[in-house]
Amino acid sequence: MEQHSRTDAYTDRYAARAAGMVPSEIRALFAMAARPEVVSLAGGMPNVSALPLDAVGQMIGDLVAGRGADVLQYGSAQGDERLREHICDVMSLEGVQASADDVVVTVGAQQALDLITKIFVDPGDVILAEAPSYVGALGTFASYQADVVHVPLDEAGLIPSALREALARLRREGRPVKFLYTVPTFQNPAGVTLTTARRAQILEICAEYDVLVVEDNPYGLLGFEGEPMRALRADDSERVIYLGSFSKTIASGLRVGWVLAPHAVRAKLVLAAESAILCPSNFSQLAVREYLATQPWQEQIKDFRELYRTRRDTMLGSLEQFMPDGCTWTRPAGGFFVWLTLPEGLDAKAMAPRAIAERVAYVPGTGFYADGTGHRHMRLSYCFPEPHRIREGVRRLAAVVEDEIRLRDTFGGAVTDGDSGVQAPGPDVV
Ligand SMILES: Cc1ncc(COP(=O)(O)O)c(C=O)c1O
Repeated sequence: MEQHSRTDAYTDRYAARAAGMVPSEIRALFAMAARPEVVSLAGGMPNVSALPLDAVGQMIGDLVAGRGADVLQYGSAQGDERLREHICDVMSLEGVQASADDVVVTVGAQQALDLITKIFVDPGDVILAEAPSYVGALGTFASYQADVVHVPLDEAGLIPSALREALARLRREGRPVKFLYTVPTFQNPAGVTLTTARRAQILEICAEYDVLVVEDNPYGLLGFEGEPMRALRADDSERVIYLGSFSKTIASGLRVGWVLAPHAVRAKLVLAAESAILCPSNFSQLAVREYLATQPWQEQIKDFRELYRTRRDTMLGSLEQFMPDGCTWTRPAGGFFVWLTLPEGLDAKAMAPRAIAERVAYVPGTGFYADGTGHRHMRLSYCFPEPHRIREGVRRLAAVVEDEIRLRDTFGGAVTDGDSGVQAPGPDVV
């Protein structure tokens, strides 16, 4: 707030909910990370250039030339019906049986998060969220003034006993929980996946405490081993609200995602969407629909998987080769991210500007915790840089970490930098 009043003459006029909407200073870091000499392991941008761009361009051109009057017109708030049918086919790959009538097309999964929070959460309401959690979700929850209570995860995903403890405590305190927010598969930022056994336990516990589950699943089809995981939604259609996205399996720039919700919730979501945007872009929806109807999209997803698998392997191999003792990291079986934990006494947030000076960028862990903890962690993404850049980035990062360890051993205590000016990343970080 203070910072605002110095720079923003409108501060006193804003609604209370705007107070939590502060620009992330990591943005400045990101601007530097965009310099060509910096290897950015920070952004979570999908590799859209792997799409057959000529074929997609031709398809979109034909769509506008042939059916421009539909494509360029308003559509319905719930979204194009034929696209919703295709979405049901996509979800069936993860065991979800759904009717197109219960799907709402959204402007990416991000808008789905916004609409869900809007219809369920009043200021001060409790949302349970994994620690760490997707930064864009935390930004949405903050904008609705939710009280986020974290539940830890480990290599096997959200920890059921910790969930039960949190729910029991909140019940004792008389604080109802609006929903549990989870990214069970190839999690952003931790790269971990909830095991099959734990999926059943999580659903059981949520049923026992009568808590809704928001399952955010943009990476589910980007696994490197075997068949897709069965979605939580596949085993509980009344309790689980499922969020999907074409951002990682087709193209993030089209901004097409969806929600699958119990019927009554779906009706509220449509009304909320209508007041927010009237309708999602017909142009983008029909482009996605045409793509799914005419292009080999499952083959394309296989290509994406291979591309990301190669990069994951490069990152894990490079970490193994270069990182000093005391660092640990997750081994993702899909998705975009590795979660690295620094040795005791090191601080990823304080270290970030030093890493940039050494021409490598990452996202400090603090942005993924609503309570500002997570200093010893960082998210490393392998989705975007070429493999040789990933290797070079990890090599540079390892050298920075080694220097930090030396500093810690020389001066003792935590290697923090109060003047680094680096704050938690905002929702601009995917
Ligand atoms: C877990 C998670 N949820 C939602 C989103 C937002 O996706 P979309 O591009 O569909 O809005 C992202 C984007 O990175 C994400 O990682």
